Amino acid sequence: MTKDILHDHHRPIGIFDSGIGGLTVAKAVKLALPNEDIVYFGDTARVPYGVKSEETVRAYALEITHFLMDKGVKMILIACNTVSASAKEDIILRAESIPVLDVISAGAQAISESGLVATPTVGVIGTIATVQSKAYEAALIQQLGSVNVIQQACPLLVPLAEEGWIEHEVARLTMKEYIQAFDPHSLDALILGCTHYPLFTNLITNIMPSRQTRIIDSAESIAASAKQYLIEHGGCNTQGGSFNCYVSDRPKRFQELAERFLGEPLTNIDIVSDLENLL
Ligand code: DGL
Repeated sequence: MTKDILHDHHRPIGIFDSGIGGLTVAKAVKLALPNEDIVYFGDTARVPYGVKSEETVRAYALEITHFLMDKGVKMILIACNTVSASAKEDIILRAESIPVLDVISAGAQAISESGLVATPTVGVIGTIATVQSKAYEAALIQQLGSVNVIQQACPLLVPLAEEGWIEHEVARLTMKEYIQAFDPHSLDALILGCTHYPLFTNLITNIMPSRQTRIIDSAESIAASAKQYLIEHGGCNTQGGSFNCYVSDRPKRFQELAERFLGEPLTNIDIVSDLENLL
């Protein structure tokens, strides 16, 4: 059945997030798979998810899954780490024959393929919900067997990224404070476990005391996984390249911020106000 859907090459890939941050995933997917059509949904009416309960995040995520299925997608990419941590299994069930990939599994796979030492020490930074779920730890143990995982919730980074304070002194001090929660010299790798954090890659690289620490960007990891999956299952489109964007509130604000995350301006953004009615 999965194969049937993917053989409909022209169907779009669905990507969703709690808001704008998932555009970092869209950017990576556009780069890795330039001939795919993409439907993106950002739940700007209900963002942030990272401070909400698992039950709430799950309910929102299932509504969005329905929305994307309605758009005829051939694959769903969960761009939001918080959703990946709280609702992945429910989304897989709801999506039926549509393959679902998530940033946490993709990030853990990238770690396992990056040739680290046996029993590496891996740092994970993410939202409060992602860290509390320990989903990265579970995924890393599944991939590597033996691994030391140290996690740090960084709730101030999402607002800083949305404000555009990427290289700002306040961002530098905040990041330094968070990174100090680790013994940063001991980290073999650091996973950027939140959609917004790839924007801080330069800052983090400069703050990390050891150049040996591998920085893993989950956005790039899921784009690579999606490409591999489509190639392996014969599901690649060769004639697409469109990008359709939907949000649940404030499309204008979304448009203003989009370029920072997507790396290019966004022109067409539609608003969806009746998400729950799709269930
Ligand atoms: N997209 C969320 C994540 O990756 C961050 C923003 C939020 O808290 O909703 O965890």
